[in-house]
Amino acid sequence: MFDRVWLNAHLATMQGEGLGLVEDGAVAARGGRIAWVGPRAALPGPAAETVDCAGAWILPGLIDCHTHLVFGGDRAAEFEQRLEGASYEEIARAGGGILSTVRATRAASEDALLAAARPRLAALMAEGVTTVEIKSGYGLDLETELRQLRVARRLGETAAVSVRTTLLAAHAVPPEFAGRRADYARHVAEVILPAAAGAGLADAVDAFCERIAFTLEETALVFEAARAAGLPVKLHADQLCDFGGAALAARYGALSADHLEYASTAGIAAMARAGSVAVLLPGACYFIREERRPDIAAMRAAGLRLALASDLNPGSSPALSLLLMLNLGCTLFRLTVAEALRGVTVVAAAALGLADRGRLAPGLRCDLALYRIARPAELCYWIGGNPCIGRVVGGHVVEE
Ligand code: NIG
Ligand code: FE
Repeated sequence: MFDRVWLNAHLATMQGEGLGLVEDGAVAARGGRIAWVGPRAALPGPAAETVDCAGAWILPGLIDCHTHLVFGGDRAAEFEQRLEGASYEEIARAGGGILSTVRATRAASEDALLAAARPRLAALMAEGVTTVEIKSGYGLDLETELRQLRVARRLGETAAVSVRTTLLAAHAVPPEFAGRRADYARHVAEVILPAAAGAGLADAVDAFCERIAFTLEETALVFEAARAAGLPVKLHADQLCDFGGAALAARYGALSADHLEYASTAGIAAMARAGSVAVLLPGACYFIREERRPDIAAMRAAGLRLALASDLNPGSSPALSLLLMLNLGCTLFRLTVAEALRGVTVVAAAALGLADRGRLAPGLRCDLALYRIARPAELCYWIGGNPCIGRVVGGHVVEE
């Protein structure tokens, strides 16, 4: 006997290599997990409750595996500066960019950050997101980094979504450490990271390894501290130049390296050998008008797994839509529909080190997204609009 069964639906299970399609399928849940999935005609038993999906498509709940959605203020004024000709990098070097969000985030209370983050998270959830990763990185001091992570945890406790937190204290050099970047990296490794890990506030550690941020050596120092704390690592790598970030991430067995517009073939091959996921962020590429594209052909040839995420942040990707990222991933990066949809489900789960979700398969969490569409390609095809008609989180139908 199942707790609940969804009938009269088509399924994109993400089982196997492609979308794992099942026309006229059924999904059954018990105890918050998927108990059975397959063609409706083969459904083995009765359920306490039946949901008629009226021909909708069911996907695993979407996973946005790279966001910075807890922050103070916004950067709309900087957007206007960029429209007048300034580049993202020039603004950052002049003390704007990430540091302007740091000022606004430090000035905001925990409750104010929570209130500002809620509608951003709600926008993602409304499209079918059931798991979201949230990074710190706009505090750059112990107190504010922990505050950001606490807000992320509170979002996960109070909204119908799983939140995974990532400490990104090595995101920029804070003003107190101006001219002392290596000292700040040591401070992250020796003070902020152990405190966040000790408080159970971080599920992973990330860094911004780039000519305008931290060197390979400084990043390695932070990764060593993560390893000592038993936390997996991720990396903002090779976004603005080929800096060797992909290879460094691979050397530390990173869950993922993200951005990768300038990653070399050797870096890509190293990631594939290490099993690291490539997280593609077309929103950032689009919004900062980066002309270089990640080398998708090399990634495919190396057998690298590709995820897609919003990178939701105030500076380089104010993207409140993961569905829009599917479209951008396909149009800008020429991903196939199957690559894009796997990139926000099964591969996104891998980028977060989560084996219990991302596919429709017995034993996994019953996190579902229901869409009123004729075929899965529509999720990548429309620019705007929202065909999501329901979400299920841990077997419970969410009333939105
Ligand atoms: O993922 N690359 C660094 N971090 C963010 C941008 C943060 C910001 O500009 O506020 C990113 O693109
Ligand atoms: Fe990012």
